[in-house]
Parts: sequence; C-alpha cells; structure tokens
Amino acid sequence: MSKEEWLKKGFIDEPIDKSIDLKKAINELRKEKNAVILAHYYQQGDLQDIADYVGDSLALAQWAAKTTADIIVLCGVHFMGETAKVICPDKKVLVPDLNAGCSLADSCPADRFVQFVKEHSEYTVISYVNTTAAVKAVTDIVVTSTNACQIVESFPKDEKIIFGPDRNLGNYINSITNRNMLLWDGACHVHEQFSVEKIVELKKQYPNAVILAHPECKSVVLKLADVVGSTATLLKYAVKSDKNEFIVATESGIIHEMRKQCPQKTFIPAPPNDSTCACNECNFMRLNTLEKLYNCLKYEFPTIEVDEKIAKEAVKPIKKMLEISRRLGL
Ligand code: 13P
Ligand code: SF4
Repeated sequence: MSKEEWLKKGFIDEPIDKSIDLKKAINELRKEKNAVILAHYYQQGDLQDIADYVGDSLALAQWAAKTTADIIVLCGVHFMGETAKVICPDKKVLVPDLNAGCSLADSCPADRFVQFVKEHSEYTVISYVNTTAAVKAVTDIVVTSTNACQIVESFPKDEKIIFGPDRNLGNYINSITNRNMLLWDGACHVHEQFSVEKIVELKKQYPNAVILAHPECKSVVLKLADVVGSTATLLKYAVKSDKNEFIVATESGIIHEMRKQCPQKTFIPAPPNDSTCACNECNFMRLNTLEKLYNCLKYEFPTIEVDEKIAKEAVKPIKKMLEISRRLGL
C-alpha cells in the first residue's frame, strides 16, 4: 500500500507476520529509533503496559515537554498528539491511528470558536486541552481537568472568562470557584452517557463503595459522587483511600491501572444509559491497538502535523499552563 492510501485510512494496515512477538519487536524498535511511548489511562491495557509512561492529559504534555527522545508515539487521541507536536515541533510525533478523534474537541469547531472569541473581545479565553490546535491558537491559557480549578482561581474574581468547550467541566469549575464563566456548549459523548439510575442501583448493591467521577460527567452524576477529579486524581484517591470498593464514573480504561496499583480493591465501572454493556468506553481511544503501534513505529507513520502559524500561537497557552502547573507542584 502507498503512503497516500495509508493516510486515507489513518493507520497502517500492513499484515503482521503471526510469528512476530509484538511486544519484543516494539521494544526493539523503540530502542533502535530512540522513541518514547506515552499512553493515556483510557488506552486498552496492553498499550498501557508497554508504554514508557502512562498518565492523564497533563502528564502526557509534561512528558512530551521534557523528553529527549527523537520520536514521540502518543497512544491517545488526536488532540493529545497535536499538543505534543506543538510543544516539540522538531520531533516526529506519531499516533497509531489518526482516526482517534474526540467528540468533545469536535464539539468546538475552530471557525465558530474564533467568531465567539471575537464577539467577546474583553474576555480572557480559557480552553480545555481537549481542543484542536486552532482553538488553542486563540486561547489565553489551556487547562486540563487536573489543574482547571486552580488555574481559573489564579485570575481575579471579577475577570470576565470564556471557558470552552466542555459545559459540564465549565459548570463544575463555576460551582467550585464561585464564578460565572461564559461557557461553550460542548460535551464528551462518553461522560454524558453515565446513567444516574444505574449508579444509584450499584450504590444499593455496594453501599460502602466510594463514587468517583470525572468532571466531564453531567452535574446530576457529579452530585452523586464522593470524589470528582481528573483520571490521575481519581487514581491517586483510590490508591490512598482506606476504602475497598469504588464505583468509577469515567472511561473504564482507568480501571486497568487502578487494579494494577490496588489488586486487593474492587473497582466497578459505572454503566452508561442506553447500552447493555456494563462499562463506558471511548470508541476513539480504543482505535489504537498493539498491532497499529507496531506498524506505526516500524514505518514512522502516521505523523501528526500542525500548521506552523497555528502551532506558533497554540504553544503559548500550553506553555503558560505547564509553567503554572510547575509552580503549583502539579
Ligand atoms: P484527563 O485530563 O483526566 O486525562 O481527561 C482526559 C479526557 O479525555 C477525559 O475524557
Ligand atoms: Fe474525548 Fe470523551 Fe474520548 Fe476523552 S473520553 S477523548 S473527552 S471523546
């Protein structure tokens, strides 16, 4: 197949010899090419296990900023690869499957957001990292779910702020920081899906369970939660807690690391509304596989490319976020 055909598909579907030990081959390729593999907690377990680093969106950006590798393979979704590329324009950044998008980032098309920002020129623009580089390019500071409340709090109480694109996270920050940020009306299809009724049912079954929820969930779900936080925050809480049972209302990939770090504890995925499935998976995150990772390392393809002018602007609010996070010790 030609590179053009691969590009159309978004990944390399070159058949892999069945006799190849994929994990061994990936390890050899990573060494030979001086590549680092970064994986998000929502990746399938085998990708998390083979990665050099597994973390939340903030940690992925932080590792990208400090790596000395020549190639970064981002096992995550497109905006995560873009963020790494914007931070490291001279490095090759690969994502095993370019089709790994994000419904939340898609809910904020750059042209409409630019117009919105223009119409509110007196506002400071704070964007969630789950956005395209073009949206970041018109942003004053980027946040992730780990640092969002603290970064918003670093602005004066009367600062006029636009927050986009996640309305649930925005409402949550408004409630915690007692602000009235102007919110973009976007959402994540995974986190909006959690069923209040099914979580209440689970809580009856496991009355001692702690309910953990990501702030991208709807406020009705967050009201039920004992702990609200980013993937890394929820993981840390579960590890430190003296409790043994947890109902987890975020993408179920995080449970892989939770079980690894706390094999004696019970983690129950919160179920979505309209499915017979017991857990909620991000179909974009799950597009990456060990086979695609192998092919992408072998052929150094597909790469993430960002328009130079956009990257020059987008890097500023990302670097601001990294600097504040460093000062906050995050
Ligand atoms: P984290 O910031 O917790 O990694 O969340 C990323 C994400 O995509 C949530 O849906
Ligand atoms: Fe985007 Fe939601 Fe998937 Fe996170 S879980 S990558 S916000 S679609």
